[in-house]
Amino acid sequence: MKILVTGGAGFIGSNFVLYMLQEHPTYDIINVDALTYAGNLENLKSIESNIRHTFIQADIADVQQMENIFAQGIDVVVNFAAESHVDRSILSPDVFVRTNVMGTQVLLDAAKKYQITKFLQVSTDEVYGSLGPTGLFTEETPLMPNSPYSASKAGGDLLVRAYHETFGLPVNITRCSNNYGPFQFPEKLIPLIIARALNNEAIPVYGDGLNIRDWLYVEDHCRAIDLVMHQGRSGEVYNIGGNNERTNIHIVETVLEQLGKPASLIQYVQDRLGHDRRYGIDPTKLQTELGWKPVHHFETGIKETINWYLNHQDWMARVQSGAYQDDVKLQYGKQVGDSDV
Ligand code: NAD
Ligand code: DAU
Repeated sequence: MKILVTGGAGFIGSNFVLYMLQEHPTYDIINVDALTYAGNLENLKSIESNIRHTFIQADIADVQQMENIFAQGIDVVVNFAAESHVDRSILSPDVFVRTNVMGTQVLLDAAKKYQITKFLQVSTDEVYGSLGPTGLFTEETPLMPNSPYSASKAGGDLLVRAYHETFGLPVNITRCSNNYGPFQFPEKLIPLIIARALNNEAIPVYGDGLNIRDWLYVEDHCRAIDLVMHQGRSGEVYNIGGNNERTNIHIVETVLEQLGKPASLIQYVQDRLGHDRRYGIDPTKLQTELGWKPVHHFETGIKETINWYLNHQDWMARVQSGAYQDDVKLQYGKQVGDSDV
């Protein structure tokens, strides 16, 4: 089986590539990533010489580049490629629409033309909007995105649905809650806390710190995608989450405590615009239909994650200094900032 993974140099995509190569010894992976600021080839160092993994720097919104890749013969597409950070979407929504909506449409056209056997769209619980103090997101919850990021992801999801309804393309959409684990870019809450705390810098907590996210260890997300890819009923949406709701301030305090850093680093700052109050996933469908359940408990997963960052301070330092982009310059002769994406 030849799987096209897009966005496979990012946080979840790189974890998924590593996971799949290990779990499926006969599969080949074509890993397509534009290497924006969020793409990091150093995440893939351990598989540099693995002949079952081929990396291609390309933009999913570029029709010709995608045509060339699909023409090589692809069985399954797993689309992780996206602009993924809510704060950036508030500053620059345009690139979110380009990649998350138009890029998805380019991939869908190619998938249709080359008759792939499954198109799996990796989406997010944020498309459902924000919850009050009770209730959970199910697959039937109406889409009510509140940020340019989540609106662009919802746009991508609707196109995926439409290609299934109109053209019969075999698709699945997965909607996962907040991930944590190795290789996450330190603009996102958990690695940001770790990076700043290690430098004794203030930790910015938006608003009152009582917004709630539902945390899932990245490997549990990868396992769920693997299951949906193989066994998901065509046209279906599957929510992914491990019932691990925590307030942001709880996350900050937990990480600081484990790092032995003082709570005085916490600094309450102005709230994020349109800040969703609470996310909570009902994963019943995935559990009952496909037998998925998370393996990692939050209390141990967060400790392992913190230890991973402590043991990979060289990785963090190269991300923070921008040195991680040197590989791109060496191999492709252009800097990420020079990319047309
Ligand atoms: P990320 O920002 O770490 O990685 C995104 C990757 O996509 C990067 O490697 C980037 O270079 C690449 N990319 C961006 N634009 C591209 C383009 N035009 N063409 C090709 N590649 C491009 O994101 P992530 O956190 O790993 O998220 C991956 C996917 O999972 C996204 O679709 C996101 O919406 C979804 N998701 C993320 C979370 C989370 O908690 N991080 C939770 C649920 C769903
Ligand atoms: O729910 C899934 C989503 O989770 C994914 O679709 C997104 O790609 C991913 O980025 C993540 O979105 P969030 O906005 O929830 O993640 P972020 O790490 O940016 O923020 C988590 C919470 O912490 C959120 O309530 C905002 C808050 N926050 C974040 C940052 C970066 C702070 O209080 N301070 C910060 O500095």
